[in-house]
Amino acid sequence: MNTLAVLHAAQLVTLAGPGRPRVGAELSDVAIVSHGGMLVRDGVIAALGRSDEIARQMPADAQVVDAGGRVVLPGFIDAHAHPVFGGNRVDEFELRARGASYEEIAAAGGGIRSTVAKTRAASEEELRQQALKHARWFLQCGTTTVEGKSGYGLTLADELKMLRVMRDLDAETPLEFVRTFLGAHAIPEEFRDQPERYVDCVINEMLPQVAAEGLAEYCDIFCERGYFDIETARRILTAAKSHQLRLRMHVDQLTNSGGAALAAELGAATADHLEQTEEDGIEALLRAKVQPVLLPGSVYALGKTRYPRAREMIDAGLAVVLATDFNPGSSQTPSMPMVLSLAATQMKMTPAEGVTAATINAAYSLHRGDRIGSLEPGKLANFAIFDCTDYRELAYYFGIPQTHSVYVKGERVFAATS
Ligand code: NIG
Ligand code: FE
Repeated sequence: MNTLAVLHAAQLVTLAGPGRPRVGAELSDVAIVSHGGMLVRDGVIAALGRSDEIARQMPADAQVVDAGGRVVLPGFIDAHAHPVFGGNRVDEFELRARGASYEEIAAAGGGIRSTVAKTRAASEEELRQQALKHARWFLQCGTTTVEGKSGYGLTLADELKMLRVMRDLDAETPLEFVRTFLGAHAIPEEFRDQPERYVDCVINEMLPQVAAEGLAEYCDIFCERGYFDIETARRILTAAKSHQLRLRMHVDQLTNSGGAALAAELGAATADHLEQTEEDGIEALLRAKVQPVLLPGSVYALGKTRYPRAREMIDAGLAVVLATDFNPGSSQTPSMPMVLSLAATQMKMTPAEGVTAATINAAYSLHRGDRIGSLEPGKLANFAIFDCTDYRELAYYFGIPQTHSVYVKGERVFAATS
């Protein structure tokens, strides 16, 4: 048996608690063991406690990881990202710096459509190489599981290509990818004059094939004016459910179109973005136990000022999740610590609430709450060591990586040099 003993953590932030998503005041309890240690057997957590107790229990041949008075956290779980895409949109970024808006650029044929053109033009191997770089970035920021969406292919072949890249990287890299089909991300250029034909293609060609090949666990849609309206979203997502796909949805990002209510009606796992959601939307999510996924990185990167109402959502009893929305157009960060900083400064979430939303609640939103998201006996030993002595420093400092090392199933997969 292969045993690992993690010793001398100033704070072992366990997130131990009830076996369900955390709500209300529970988000503030990150269950810290001071001077902590952890025993890992064959990649699974066997015991946690004070470092000196763990040192007494460990077998003589245990491999010791000396946390050296640093902070140990569960690996972050990024429950909303677009990690596979061709090229970048640095030209549009400059246009926005010069005053153009995201919506204006999209209306002129840029935005999602420009990444679609680059993603279609890229070979599967080229996409894989680029996504591999992104996978390293996620790991380097302390993320060990990422949800990844298709949605920049928008033909059957190109959507399958994106999903296969994530399937292969899940197998080939230590980063776990949870795959989501997002064929309904935008109406592609060639269907501009007959959008309903593209919707038929998503329902009749793409969804059955994606499901038959087992390439996605979730189906998502961009529910927004100029993209997919409520009626169309209901049709596509009802078809997705008939293929046993669970639902995540981009809703109420730029305008409030009643997307949160639709997520509740359809029993989606998550409703994501929610920048424009009001009280009625929050109540609908609560009644249907839909988890809100908040993406402050996209508000920040678009230069907008209206963040989702995180405090009202927490006070209402929603099991809030935080994620990066990493993508080339509206959120160019793969860093969960950056998201924790934004959550604290822009949405008034405390570091404890942020960490809970970025770990255990995110795990539940991906149907993996029994396996990852906290450091508890029986769970995978996916954890990150950060070069600080108080976990709140992760949200406090920003723009500087604090990752010391990252472990997946007890194996070291990243170590900072020096
Ligand atoms: O989550 N909102 C729609 N999709 C992405 C943006 C994608 C892009 O601009 O390429 C998002 O923000
Ligand atoms: Fe997104």
